[in-house]
Amino acid sequence: MAVEEYMTEQSVDKRAEESGEEMGQSALLKVDNLSVAFKLRGTTLTAVDGVSFTLDYGQRLGIVGESGAGKSVTGFGILNLVSKPGYISGGSILFEGRDLTKLSEEEMRDIRGNRIAMIFQDPMMTLNPVLTIGSQMVETLKAHRNISTAEAEEIALDKLRKVAIPSPEKRLKQYPHEFSGGMRQRIVIAIALLTSPALIIADEPTTALDVTIQADIMELLLELCESENMALILITHDLAVVSQVAERIAVMYAGRIAELGTTEQIINDPQHPYTKGLLQALPQNAARRGRLYQIPGSMPNLKERPAGCSFYERCDDRLEKCEDKIPELQEQNAGHIACHVVNDDKKDGNNTAL
Ligand SMILES: Nc1ncnc2c1ncn2[C@@H]1O[C@H](COP(=O)(O)OP(=O)(O)OP(=O)(O)O)[C@@H](O)[C@H]1O
Ligand code: SF4
Ligand SMILES: [Mg+2]
Repeated sequence: MAVEEYMTEQSVDKRAEESGEEMGQSALLKVDNLSVAFKLRGTTLTAVDGVSFTLDYGQRLGIVGESGAGKSVTGFGILNLVSKPGYISGGSILFEGRDLTKLSEEEMRDIRGNRIAMIFQDPMMTLNPVLTIGSQMVETLKAHRNISTAEAEEIALDKLRKVAIPSPEKRLKQYPHEFSGGMRQRIVIAIALLTSPALIIADEPTTALDVTIQADIMELLLELCESENMALILITHDLAVVSQVAERIAVMYAGRIAELGTTEQIINDPQHPYTKGLLQALPQNAARRGRLYQIPGSMPNLKERPAGCSFYERCDDRLEKCEDKIPELQEQNAGHIACHVVNDDKKDGNNTAL
């Protein structure tokens, strides 16, 4: 079977049988009130606390926030890959109409290999150092498709061309250590493309790379999402990177979504004090003011989550009620914001700022 025929067959099968698009479902992924906890020495620490968002077919969502915000745990949670002592402690993850929290490990393995691919910061988390690139790609394909080795190799070559690996025929016979970091990440993207997934979850895919290579990889991911109609969840601490790729952005803080909106709205009209702080802290904004801004203080650790808003200690806009009442994510202006000031208090103006 030629690559083109295979791809056509795959595309038709994929759209008609698996996507759910034809059944009138527009959302590819609906994460509803997802919580992920870790059981440690008798205590339960909640790392992701009631996260909700939807993602349409072909849509690109960025998840941003400082270290420890719960971005990766959210990504792993969606794939049911949170390792013990972590576990999904609440919520649902509807993907193409199926609740991933209810699937068996075997069913989940099939979804992970076929419909959702994950790209990590370190390509070696995906690549096996003792196997050639070709064997890894062929093995991956044959695990999910009933095809011959020759057919699998042909598809692997096609994907390597898509990610602009020069001399792919020669490269298939090489081992991961024979590639540069940027090339290794391209190969990981090619592996992710093998089964034409509907969703890619990329967790800091360029953080370990040189700045110039980072931009190339991001551009490649963006092009591929558009040409292959793949949805993307891009997890990064870098608001500048995410704004170039994502159509919507979820800003996470201490395990919760602080603000969710279109990229345009988050970048040009941020509402949540934390989002405003992240934007102020961007180096390009520092250049304008002549100094680098840092949000004062640090994110509370999981053991010391305050009773109210987790951003309370660092927030210039805090009110008395912020101390003991958790702000819910509410629809506001163009997006969703979890902040008492933005959601309620600005309206009545009766509160005392601390
Ligand atoms: N295996 C684990 N056991 C206990 N706590 C964990 C574990 N993995 C993550 N956590 C905690 O969960 C919280 C969220 O972690 P997560 O890795 O999702 O953060 P992140 O936003 O991806 O940060 P970074 O930008 O550093 O990657 C952190 O407080 C972290 O310490
Ligand atoms: S709820 Fe209060 S403390 Fe939290 S971000 Fe809004 S104003 Fe600041
Ligand atoms: Mg992370």
